[in-house]
Amino acid sequence: MIGLHKGQPISITGMGVYVPERVLTNDDLAKMVDTSDEWIVTRTGIRERRIAADDEATSDLCIPAAEHALAAAGFEPGELDLLIVATITPDMPFPATATAVADRLGATAAAAYDLSAGCTGFMYALSQAYSSIAAGFVRNALVIGADTLSRVTDWSDRSTCVLFGDGAGAVVLERVGEGGFLGFELGADGSGANALYMPAGGSRLPASSETVASRQHFAKMNGREVFKFGTRILVSSAEAILTACGKRVEDVDLYVPHQANIRIIDHAAKKLGVPEDRVFVNVDRYGNTSSASIPLALADAHEKGRLRDGTLVLMTGMGAGLTWGSSLMTWTGGKRDGH
Ligand code: ACO
Repeated sequence: MIGLHKGQPISITGMGVYVPERVLTNDDLAKMVDTSDEWIVTRTGIRERRIAADDEATSDLCIPAAEHALAAAGFEPGELDLLIVATITPDMPFPATATAVADRLGATAAAAYDLSAGCTGFMYALSQAYSSIAAGFVRNALVIGADTLSRVTDWSDRSTCVLFGDGAGAVVLERVGEGGFLGFELGADGSGANALYMPAGGSRLPASSETVASRQHFAKMNGREVFKFGTRILVSSAEAILTACGKRVEDVDLYVPHQANIRIIDHAAKKLGVPEDRVFVNVDRYGNTSSASIPLALADAHEKGRLRDGTLVLMTGMGAGLTWGSSLMTWTGGKRDGH
């Protein structure tokens, strides 16, 4: 689907991130499985990733990210109307991680729910928050992309364990005076579900001693299929949203794609025609953090001074489902219109 903005602008007015302290380098991984720094860097661009402490769950990563985002936007938690946590690694199957986050933040007036769309979760959640504000249902929303993929990573499988890392990124959305989101393009193709999935732990294959013994509680991935999908969809989704918004690739000041693999990013940027200096990359430091990937990259870009008033930002996520989602927005530097 493609949805285009109408009416009063809606934008991001605060951002915050949190990554666990523990750094796992490629050399560390080479001591755990048959791999090397050279293989990982050449095939993925990843040099290190963050791993949650044993007592850190997804909601624990969300809280500092959310607090920073709220402070940056000048909000008290009690003023929040909506809180969405995009994640595929919730604290537990139910209740939603978002309810725990809302409770700990003191967001007592907010509706709170989780959203599962693989690594596209943040883009889906952004569009949900945007739509709820645009429809007038809520005045503001806190969107958090957070995952602790380390908990569902098979640390004996070298084809997946080198890719993933943990983290959280949060953004506050509200009405602004100008700029903001121009539109969203989102999609899903469930026929590709078995390219990336976790077999057990749901109603299809509940946890049992057999599912544990056969390692069914870890993420399984057909890397080549996901690679092919990623290189194709990052291009087609970006082209669709650019066309729908009447923009050209030359208009894009900053391209923030899902940080899964530098080769997928380079391929998409080249195919789209986005010059290297307009592509934001931090996969080298965090690996693939799933729902946290795009907000971590956005916040990094902001810190590096790459987001200014009027910067046209193109974001595209893709991941398990298979799902994808793009958005174009004009950065507004936190200009607000009351709340
Ligand atoms: N170290 C050393 N060798 C390895 C490793 C490793 N960590 N992993 C695989 N290999 C070997 C394979 O066994 C294979 O050996 P063989 O030729 O003897 O059989 C060889 O390297 C090549 O394997 P390929 O799978 O062809 O390697 P490829 O170049 O495709 O890279 C990779 C693999 C990095 C996984 C790539 O396919 C990829 O990035 N895919 C997309 C993954 C992705 O983006 N997933 C996340 C999606 S988002 C979400 O929702 C979470």
